[in-house]
Amino acid sequence: MSNSHTTAQAEQPAIHVHGLEKSFKQLKVLRGVDIAVARGSIFALLGSNGAGKTTVVRILATLLGADGGTARVAGFDVATQAADVRQSISLTGQFAAVDEILTGRENLILVARLRHLKEPGAIADDLLRRFSLTEAGARRVRTYSGGMRRRLDIAMSLIGDPPVIFLDEPTTGLDPEARIEVWQAIKELARGGTTVLLTTQYLDEAEQLADRIAILHEGRIIVNGTLDELKQLLPPAEIEYVEKQPTLEDVFLTLVGAKTEKEQR
Ligand SMILES: Nc1ncnc2c1ncn2[C@@H]1O[C@H](COP(=O)(O)OP(=O)(O)O)[C@@H](O)[C@H]1O
Ligand SMILES: [Mg+2]
Repeated sequence: MSNSHTTAQAEQPAIHVHGLEKSFKQLKVLRGVDIAVARGSIFALLGSNGAGKTTVVRILATLLGADGGTARVAGFDVATQAADVRQSISLTGQFAAVDEILTGRENLILVARLRHLKEPGAIADDLLRRFSLTEAGARRVRTYSGGMRRRLDIAMSLIGDPPVIFLDEPTTGLDPEARIEVWQAIKELARGGTTVLLTTQYLDEAEQLADRIAILHEGRIIVNGTLDELKQLLPPAEIEYVEKQPTLEDVFLTLVGAKTEKEQR
């Protein structure tokens, strides 16, 4: 299993990003991004549409070169050890990459075969069980709901047991019930010892899932901490005034400088 690391390895972050920079022509998307993700944890990279979340993920997955800074994934440098990085990761994008004509089980077997694994059928059945798709496994994916597809997609990305998995906006476009199903699937990943870096525009998603949350804004990480740490960033006076703990939404809006309803009054 991927969670049987030695103590020395466990102390090294699974993902370590320092001073990452990336521009597209004149557009400076990343202006020095720093991130550290502990092994076996769920890390949420939170940001508005266009903040640069996918750009970070693509650099970490070796699909895109950075202009500056360094990034290591599972101990390997993305620039100089790209093949090793690719061996250690899987990437699930916003649009599920499953084959509609095949059944769920056949999709899983296909990927297991492509990766030259032994007993692809047993691997498929195990994953179907873990993601509550055993009954659906015999049906064509064409008949699946959005949540089932996304769960199958996440299950497929786990084949070969990669220690690090990137989920780029895993629940965008899903209905509320399907989102909860996918959240459960993601929690299941981390329980198995996989390190998860997910991107999201949804504050409640980060709040639900992440051990640590970083907010990417105007090319930099403007805060990075646990949910409790982020909530403590708001001035105590405001906490008293609203007579409840601030939500992550309050913290986000305050930090990115948007006006909250209260401030506008
Ligand atoms: N290949 C590209 N060429 C030019 N601009 C790009 C490219 N990829 C992304 N961008 C721009 O970079 C910014 C960040 O994009 P992206 O990383 O996709 O943001 P997010 O995933 O947070 O929505 C956006 O303004 C986007 O239009
Ligand atoms: Mg994106």
